Amino acid sequence: MSAAPEFQPVLDGIVAALSELRGTEGQVASYIPALARIDARHFGMALVTADGQEAQAGDGAMPFSIQSISKVFTLTLAMQHLGEALWERIGREPSGSAFNSLVQLEFEQGRPRNPFINAGAIAVADRLVSLFGGGAKAELLALMTALAGEPVAFDEEVAASEAATGFRNLALANFMKSFGKLDNPVEQVLDLYFHQCALRMSCLQLARAAAYLSRDGHHPLWAGRAVCTERQTRRINALMLTCGTYDAAGEFAYRIGLPCKSGVGGGIVAVVPDRLTLAVWAPALDATGNSALGRQALEMFVARTGLSVF
Ligand code: DON
Repeated sequence: MSAAPEFQPVLDGIVAALSELRGTEGQVASYIPALARIDARHFGMALVTADGQEAQAGDGAMPFSIQSISKVFTLTLAMQHLGEALWERIGREPSGSAFNSLVQLEFEQGRPRNPFINAGAIAVADRLVSLFGGGAKAELLALMTALAGEPVAFDEEVAASEAATGFRNLALANFMKSFGKLDNPVEQVLDLYFHQCALRMSCLQLARAAAYLSRDGHHPLWAGRAVCTERQTRRINALMLTCGTYDAAGEFAYRIGLPCKSGVGGGIVAVVPDRLTLAVWAPALDATGNSALGRQALEMFVARTGLSVF
């Protein structure tokens, strides 16, 4: 990968312009104790262009907990192996509610609205446990390492912290199990789910890992072999646009106009199809669970470059 001279000044300019605002708006996620002590003033950005150039600014090379951004990659892994059968248990509609909401699950008989809310990602994790058994975590790590082009690891402290306090996820999983919508033991499915959320990656690694989403399923580091098909890639991007930022997806589409996936660690990955992937990290979250400064940085990026799908 080479440097991206066209975009380096853009990232530097955004980090400089927003630097004063670091940690001033929103709150670091506190419901996962190991995340609560992260310094809210971190701020990083990175991008990878479709022709393999890279740029990063601020804390763009510093690893953080990717949390729900992992849902893009577990979905990709499940789609690689299951194709359309995946959708028998999971919907594709925006939820209109919080990422960890329980209410819809009862109305909809344990079938989550989409793969990016917690219930949907737990259902995807169940499919992966069916596919890979006790090797599911290793399979995910191998995928992430191959996509990032360097070793990626779970933060075991974060995973343990989530397991110790993940009462709501336990409720969601047990509720789906009660409807017969999980095939594997709840503990095993949640162990995978908590670990995927505890992946530690930097903005640069994330932008690189997601690069196939801007290249019709072809990754710059995967000579010849596609990560997923062009059609699957289009569909993952569509789900990111409509469901990737939970109940703020409409606002993200309106203000930014890019497929995005956020996590409560404060990261957001965005895709400009055929052009680039972009990742931002600022730990303080707004009321919808999305990085407050990250959203502003993405808005500024789109305003300054004119890159948007609309
Ligand atoms: O399960 C949870 O609540 C967290 N591990 C992940 C939630 C998350 O990142 C939602 N994103 N905004």
